[in-house]
Amino acid sequence: MEYKELLDIAKTARKNAYAPYSKFYVGTALLTKSGKVYTGCNVENLSFGATICAERCAIAKAVSEGERDFSAIAVYAGEKFTSPCGICLQTIYEFTKDIDIVLADRNAIKVYKLQDLMPISAIPIE
Ligand code: THU
Repeated sequence: MEYKELLDIAKTARKNAYAPYSKFYVGTALLTKSGKVYTGCNVENLSFGATICAERCAIAKAVSEGERDFSAIAVYAGEKFTSPCGICLQTIYEFTKDIDIVLADRNAIKVYKLQDLMPISAIPIE
């Protein structure tokens, strides 16, 4: 699948974002190695710490359906390139280390490797 198409799916998923507190609306589309796409959006809560980011929403949906191998995740938040937060990077790392992270603003697409954004994860260091 073209990353442009994956981003378009993330853009559509963003429409369901529930972000009344931050007003920062995020959509994601997670492509599995088997070719399926799981969408996600951020789901905020009055108890802020209960907020679920769009990336972890998509990953939980996929893993709950038996998918654990991913090839790419597209993240779309509108105006600005938005990278997954540290918790989401760690969550992605748990399942796939060589995943492409596809970011975009309204005009351009940038593709990173997970390792570019998180060179060292929370693992025991010798
Ligand atoms: N957020 C995401 O869903 N994904 C990101 O990559 C960045 C941040 C959400 C969490 C919160 O609902 C809002 O954006 C502001 O941080």
